[in-house]
Amino acid sequence: MLAEDDIKFMRRCLELAISAEGFTYPNPMVGSVIVHKGLIIGEGYHLKAGAPHAEENAIISVKDKALLRDSALYVNLEPCSHFGRRPPCSDLIISMGIRKVVIGTIDSSDKVSGKGKGKLESAGCEVVTGVLEDECRYLNRRFFTFHEEKRPYIVLKWAQSADGFIDIERDKNSGRKPTWIIGKAERVLVHKWRASEQSILAGAGTIRSDNPDLTVRDWTGESPLRLVLSGSGDMGNSQPLFRTIGTNIVFTHNASAHIPDSTIVKIDKDRDSLIQVTEYLYNTGIQSVIIEGGAKVLNNFISTGLWDEARIFYGNKNFMKGIRAPGIKGKIHSVTKFSSSTLKVILNERKGKDMDPIDKFNKYF
Ligand SMILES: NC(=O)c1ccc[n+]([C@@H]2O[C@H](COP(=O)([O-])OP(=O)(O)OC[C@H]3O[C@@H](n4cnc5c(N)ncnc54)[C@H](OP(=O)(O)O)[C@@H]3O)[C@@H](O)[C@H]2O)c1
Repeated sequence: MLAEDDIKFMRRCLELAISAEGFTYPNPMVGSVIVHKGLIIGEGYHLKAGAPHAEENAIISVKDKALLRDSALYVNLEPCSHFGRRPPCSDLIISMGIRKVVIGTIDSSDKVSGKGKGKLESAGCEVVTGVLEDECRYLNRRFFTFHEEKRPYIVLKWAQSADGFIDIERDKNSGRKPTWIIGKAERVLVHKWRASEQSILAGAGTIRSDNPDLTVRDWTGESPLRLVLSGSGDMGNSQPLFRTIGTNIVFTHNASAHIPDSTIVKIDKDRDSLIQVTEYLYNTGIQSVIIEGGAKVLNNFISTGLWDEARIFYGNKNFMKGIRAPGIKGKIHSVTKFSSSTLKVILNERKGKDMDPIDKFNKYF
């Protein structure tokens, strides 16, 4: 079969995989298609942890199982080789007599890491790897960052006025609400983003001045685990913390802080706070975090280089004065115009080639 067809079928795997974005944690997003004589005869994707894997769903969807012996299975991530909540997909593929497997990228997590491919090859399967590899790694960048760098994938997000402020100057006691920089469409997109990440973090300054919900309301999906960074452990008058019921984790130097509805995680003053936050998230299996301000917290993440992508809305209005937006340098991944703002997505260049998919797999919309 032509390599062009491999690309076409792998792209379909990616389309299927992303249907479950935000729902598969701690598992990756995986899609699979089964191709017989150039035609797709089955397809499936992994819906959520504990549910059948993509390969299993694709195989189940094939009506005439006799065709499997003469078919190729495409999948964006190496089939698993171990017993988790599901039996190994490589065993299933072998038992169904599928002779060819085309894999987007190897699964670098300890449990798989080439073992699925090895199992298939030992059973006599022809295995092709690396089809749309950059796009396949990009799709599961949270999963790969978590397993390879032993920390969550970090997304920075903020909105700034045309003249570079994230807020106007507000008197703390005035009760004045923040000034919106973005419009309705961008807000819906932000809620979609929140539904895709496993946790969301804001600084105590933002909690004290805005007391934001940080929940998913304008999109379908679960709200991320809410995190606050506060050296002092003082949330001011914002009680209860996020107005809505849910779990909050407050990282603070103040071990005796009492904050309703919250778990207090003590961080040491003599070690970098952000390193301690990311270590905690890694140790509790959190694969991603979106940082939604404010300026001090965002600047901290930027200056320590602890970020993977930044999503910045540039509004149309000037504030003249206020709280300065952070400065950031990186590789521009995309620019999208809205009626009230322009969104720039910037990637941390340190991530290298695999974070800049040549195919520009459209993750955002
Ligand atoms: N336009 C936007 O997208 C956007 C988004 C969010 C917020 N905002 C605006 O940003 C403003 C708030 O920003 P801000 O810079 O004042 O506050 P902030 O960044 O939200 O929070 C700063 C606080 O976080 C804690 N903190 C930060 N780094 C820390 C570290 N390394 N270790 C321990 N604690 C740390 C400290 O808490 P303690 O003081 O408790 O020690 C610090 O005072 C508000 O006006 C808000 O409206 C704008």
